[in-house]
Amino acid sequence: MSAVLVAFNGPQAREWHEVLAANAKGRELRVWPDAVGDAVDIAYACVWLAPHGLLARIPKLKAVINLGAGVDHLLADPNVPDVPLARVAHPDLTARVTEYVVLHVLMHHRRQRLYDTQQRGRIWQPHDQPAAGEVAVGVMGLGAIGSHAAEALARLGFQVAGWSRTPRDIPGVETFHGDAGLDRFLARTEILVCLLPRTPDTERILNLALFRKLHRNGAAGGAYLVNAGRGALQVDADIIAALAEGTLAGATLDVFPQEPLSAESPLWSHPKVTITPHNAGDISPRVFAPHVMAQIEAFERGRPLENLIDRHRGY
Ligand code: GLV
Repeated sequence: MSAVLVAFNGPQAREWHEVLAANAKGRELRVWPDAVGDAVDIAYACVWLAPHGLLARIPKLKAVINLGAGVDHLLADPNVPDVPLARVAHPDLTARVTEYVVLHVLMHHRRQRLYDTQQRGRIWQPHDQPAAGEVAVGVMGLGAIGSHAAEALARLGFQVAGWSRTPRDIPGVETFHGDAGLDRFLARTEILVCLLPRTPDTERILNLALFRKLHRNGAAGGAYLVNAGRGALQVDADIIAALAEGTLAGATLDVFPQEPLSAESPLWSHPKVTITPHNAGDISPRVFAPHVMAQIEAFERGRPLENLIDRHRGY
């Protein structure tokens, strides 16, 4: 039986190795960087942020599974071999990102940062609170995760719209698409949630010109940004400028153009910014590993991999 290479570059590496091994059903696992062995025996690679060039050194590679939702790092490898590429897409990941989105939309909606500040000053001071139904939330990116998050927000009562590259239909969610639909989508959106993938078209899309198109005078009392997509989509300096001029009233950022975010970044101490360390979509290797190995077994029996990446589209 051909071997599976595991090349996970991140803090969960050990857990991934352990749980993939526990689900390998006799298939040999090779672990990057120390135990790759003779690359000629390897047919499958399970990767996360693996060094570029690694896959090109595997002559009999049949397929690659990306152990995360975002495939920008994988596709940025100029020598990624011409084999099927798939990514994990799983209800566990979808649910976790949805939790994050709901938490931060509600945090802005319920003005929790303001109440945190008041608490530190022992200030008992309620403020006007609109109902969710008066507030317009817009989700950019309507893949499996974006549409699930949009539906969850709609169930909470928000006026939810979504924007995507191509048309989508989601119950309870008004949808816009393409360049032609973007301005109308932004003009009605007070809390903007970004779950877009990184592609040449989406890089730096979250810039000052876009923020200025958001709906600032609605019930939410300002426009807010929640970016849990990719850091390269946002221009940090433009977020700071938009907060300074009042175009944005607050921002939650899970991702940054440079990760980890530099200790010098003014975003860390900005009173209107909430920062998390790219963990909105942390996934559980225990939940995913059986699914990953089952994909490989099915592929060996001639079935296509699920959630194939379209390398020309970029996700
Ligand atoms: C996390 O960022 C992922 O892409 O899964």
